[in-house]
Amino acid sequence: MAKRTIVTLPGDGIGKIVLNQALRVLDASGFEAGYIHGDIGWEFWCKEGNPLPQRTLDLLKKYKIALFGAITSKPNEEAKAELSPALQGKGLVYSSPIVGLRQKFNLDICVRPCKSYKGNPLNFIRRGKGNTIEEPFIDVVIFRQNTECLYSGVEWTNPPENVYQALKSHPRFAENFGSVPVNELSVSTRIFTKKATGRILTAAFEYADKNGYSSVTVCEKPNVIRETSGLMWKMAKEIQKSSFPGIKLNNTNIDAQMMWLTKNPEDYGVIVAGNMFGDIASDAFAGLIGGLGFACSAQFSSDGIAVFEPTHGSAPKYAGYEVPIVNPVAMIESACMMLDYLDEKTIAEKIRKAVAEIIMEGKVKTYDMMKMTGRQEVIDYGAASTIQMTDAIISRIR
Ligand code: NAI
Ligand code: MG
Repeated sequence: MAKRTIVTLPGDGIGKIVLNQALRVLDASGFEAGYIHGDIGWEFWCKEGNPLPQRTLDLLKKYKIALFGAITSKPNEEAKAELSPALQGKGLVYSSPIVGLRQKFNLDICVRPCKSYKGNPLNFIRRGKGNTIEEPFIDVVIFRQNTECLYSGVEWTNPPENVYQALKSHPRFAENFGSVPVNELSVSTRIFTKKATGRILTAAFEYADKNGYSSVTVCEKPNVIRETSGLMWKMAKEIQKSSFPGIKLNNTNIDAQMMWLTKNPEDYGVIVAGNMFGDIASDAFAGLIGGLGFACSAQFSSDGIAVFEPTHGSAPKYAGYEVPIVNPVAMIESACMMLDYLDEKTIAEKIRKAVAEIIMEGKVKTYDMMKMTGRQEVIDYGAASTIQMTDAIISRIR
């Protein structure tokens, strides 16, 4: 009998392709589970007017763990136009099922590890002393607060009178924007709560503690964004002092961090940030270890729900190829994060070792690893297909 049930959410485009490959790898690794499919994505928006049907939410509520591929989102006008004729004109408004999942289950902790694989031709290199080439080994894990900050959706263009008056009651607003006509104002609010800020900080410290990282770096901008970034920095100091005195606490500003990124990326371990700066920092570090084909992630809620997914999207232009070309590693790595979470660390390490061997050898490479532009013909030029890459990885699982 299968030990546990995992909800699979392939979604759209290449999400479907890479998720299938990750399942092949999991099967080959000896991981035992049952899988149950959940509907999510564009198809369900068009057919049902809801890209995240209630039945999918029910599945996740019941089984509490999902492997997610990727979905397609399109701007409002296109979304309306693609609704099935029976649903047109009913006032349905598209909203991203990823945001929906985060909000419905309060998936507030997002973890994005960026670790270089030796031999990856996409690894960041820099000039060292005496014109040498250095390839710093990067092992950074970004903890991104996933539900608040500038992404909370609390925003207005031409704000209503009560909001406008509230803004005007702030001396800085009155001084600098008080004479701007209200219909020329757009405002997005940056909201941090103590609860969510404490949770992401604690998660980052606990992770550092358990996994042997010596430091946690808060990457915000408290010298300018004094209230929200300031709250995170203040709470980080308190949490470090009371619970994690053995872990060093550092503070970098997001702008400076983007500069330090290429100067000393090997000096960072665990990084923690609010939603937007966490989004930026995780993409930036992912760029140093090979980009979207290698960037994996996990999201956790306060009530035991976990969703594992690659950072990349559905790359619709590559979805229809007869021979799929995209790199399955980001999805396979996300499945390994799921195995860690399920305490199947031996199996996870087996898979990671197999991936590392294939990358180190450098004989089987997807198009991105050969620095080619993605198109079907890359296969003729020696790029491995998605399936060949997966086959190669599977062949090394011992
Ligand atoms: P994308 O991540 O789908 O693709 C951007 C480019 O990255 C691709 O054209 C390709 O060159 C490369 N790429 C992505 N995954 C790759 C892989 N596994 N191997 C090799 N190369 C890879 O982002 P884009 O084009 O901005 O968005 C496409 C759609 O995906 C949109 O509808 C967007 O809303 C959605 N999206 C969904 C996400 C999710 O489901 N988590 C995240 C980001 C975008
Ligand atoms: Mg992003």
